[in-house]
Amino acid sequence: MTKQILILNGPNLNLLGKRQPEIYGHDTLEDVVANCSVLAEELGLTVTAAQSNHEGDIIDQIHSARDTAAGIIINPAAFTHTSVAILDALNAFDGIVLEVHISNVHKRESFRHQSYVSLRADGVIAGFGVEGYTLALRRMASVLT
Ligand code: DQA
Repeated sequence: MTKQILILNGPNLNLLGKRQPEIYGHDTLEDVVANCSVLAEELGLTVTAAQSNHEGDIIDQIHSARDTAAGIIINPAAFTHTSVAILDALNAFDGIVLEVHISNVHKRESFRHQSYVSLRADGVIAGFGVEGYTLALRRMASVLT
């Protein structure tokens, strides 16, 4: 059985490719997931992907991952900076957690410098564009396989 990785994206990332492309680029979330699925096969991993604009849905996805996934690659988007509840859910997940931000949040407004999720994340990638997701997946493979 190959190890499963959940790629979990938060609010507004369904608009990736259309939303502020000068910050987030032109690739869509479908492109990101497709690239990750191809790479996962090479790495001997399986990926599942979910996106939600709703905090509770993201928490439910993390709870489900407790039984199914060895790792979570999460871009919590704006909830990064606000959600103690997502942090608490991740603290109830025993696998590897990697936090990804497409933009370099540290170069942006000061409210984006604070991340609740970083208090749990085993690693953080920011500012590598959508390549951050495949880099995180490679890290998952080196830690888990
Ligand atoms: C983001 C950065 C967040 O501050 C922002 O709210 C997002 C996307 C990123 O991927 O760069 O929606 O997580």
